[in-house]
Amino acid sequence: MRLFALSSVLIASLCGIQSANAANIYAGHAIAAAVCAQCHGIVNPSAGAPFPPLAGRDAEYLKSALKQYRDKTRESDIMNNIAGSLSDKDINNVIAYYSRLKP
Ligand code: HEC
Repeated sequence: MRLFALSSVLIASLCGIQSANAANIYAGHAIAAAVCAQCHGIVNPSAGAPFPPLAGRDAEYLKSALKQYRDKTRESDIMNNIAGSLSDKDINNVIAYYSRLKP
């Protein structure tokens, strides 16, 4: 895990991502693969899946949807649970990943 974190920092800096606060799409990809992909898909996500697609959607919309699920102003038994375990950083990272994918 440590090696993974180090190598993502290295890759991020090689790609010219300068800010330490920049969303980390590599960390976002890891969350997507481990958690979200079961329902929302990951590579060419969600085509034909019975869940809302996330790929290429507006980042601000997706982030606010996750925060609403987390504070339960938007209700969904499934998403309230999942978003409840995400930090702001996790949300920024996973949305940075999905919003950059081609729909
Ligand atoms: C067990 C299945 C499941 C998993 C895993 C899951 N979701 Fe969802 N997700 C859903 C369902 C079902 C909905 C629609 C809920 C509703 O009616 O609001 C949804 C809705 C969403 C929405 C709102 C989309 C829209 O069009 O408004 C976002 C954003 C989202 N999920 C992000 C994620 C992220 C990020 C993860 C991983 C951290 C994740 N989901 C994991 C089932 C899942």
